[in-house]
Amino acid sequence: MEKPTEHLTLEQAADLLQSGEVVAIPTETVYGLAASIAHDQAIRRVFSLKGRPLINPLIVHLASAAQLNQVAREIPEEARLLAGACWPGPLTLVLPKQPGVSPLITAGGDTVAVRVPDHPLTRRLLALLPFPLAAPSANPSNYISPTRAEDVLRGLPELRGRILDGGPCQRGLESTVVGFRGGDVLLYRYGSLSRETLESILGKPLVVATRTGEVPASPGMLSRHYSPRTPLLVTRRVIDTLENLPAGNAGLLSFRTRYAHPRLSGQVVLSPAGSLEEAARNLFHSLHYLDTLGLDLIIAELLPDEGLGSSVNDRLLRAAAT
Ligand code: TXA
Ligand code: MG
Repeated sequence: MEKPTEHLTLEQAADLLQSGEVVAIPTETVYGLAASIAHDQAIRRVFSLKGRPLINPLIVHLASAAQLNQVAREIPEEARLLAGACWPGPLTLVLPKQPGVSPLITAGGDTVAVRVPDHPLTRRLLALLPFPLAAPSANPSNYISPTRAEDVLRGLPELRGRILDGGPCQRGLESTVVGFRGGDVLLYRYGSLSRETLESILGKPLVVATRTGEVPASPGMLSRHYSPRTPLLVTRRVIDTLENLPAGNAGLLSFRTRYAHPRLSGQVVLSPAGSLEEAARNLFHSLHYLDTLGLDLIIAELLPDEGLGSSVNDRLLRAAAT
């Protein structure tokens, strides 16, 4: 019998991936559910374990920027500039794909999303392997992303014994996803690198890619996502919301303030010091925790709309979408 706490060694993880199996891996953002880009069967297993629609493409994780030409081509100057400044790190670039990249990874499209993750264990793993890894976040489709091994298991208990445990993720929010069109850099997904940081590297504003018609520019822009099983309500006015609570047990996820209120059965303060970075790091684990309390409602306080606050608000608004 496998013990509940049993996790893989680096060598075991590498062996499993080489034989076409899937493994949950730590990154600085969230845990990923990884498959070799050379094994279509493993990639199919990633989609089926997550219950992810095949139209939502995956991010390819490279050992270093030197591997970029293996999967992408026609790399614009802005992409090189961003990769040079941000990799290894939480920035994903959407680029024209090399013909050999499996259409399963790109959902049949002619672009591929790539990044070099910044986690010591996963960097060693990628250096050991003869191929990059395709990896979405290691959660059931639309559920809260995992930032610890235990949260991977909460969402996907099938992965027991298939996790490379790298401890809590340092950033806690997914990578920022950008694409390129003409001379423009398009922001497809808010993430762990703030819009302001990328704009200062580029020396120009990003173009926020909004949904056009029925098909989102990037499928991750589908509105409902990152959701706890408990209904979630977001607010900027916590006191008013508490005063008007519907019947039932409510929990609160607040930014820096602890609110005393008789109706609250659970509460997490994301960053008592008011740090947006700390709030981002704690967001998903706190939602996982509140989701275990058997509450009827979780109330989440929106953060100031700047820097990583915009990224956290993006996740909260989508987690609350119906
Ligand atoms: O931090 C992260 O990015 C984590 C870790 C594991 O690296 N991964 C992650 O993967 O968040 P996933 O699959 O949960 O989100 C990938 C996002 C989705 O919004 C997807 O639509 C977008 O990247 N994406 C992937 N390929 C794309 C492409 N070719 N064009 C546009 N968007 C793409
Ligand atoms: Mg995801």
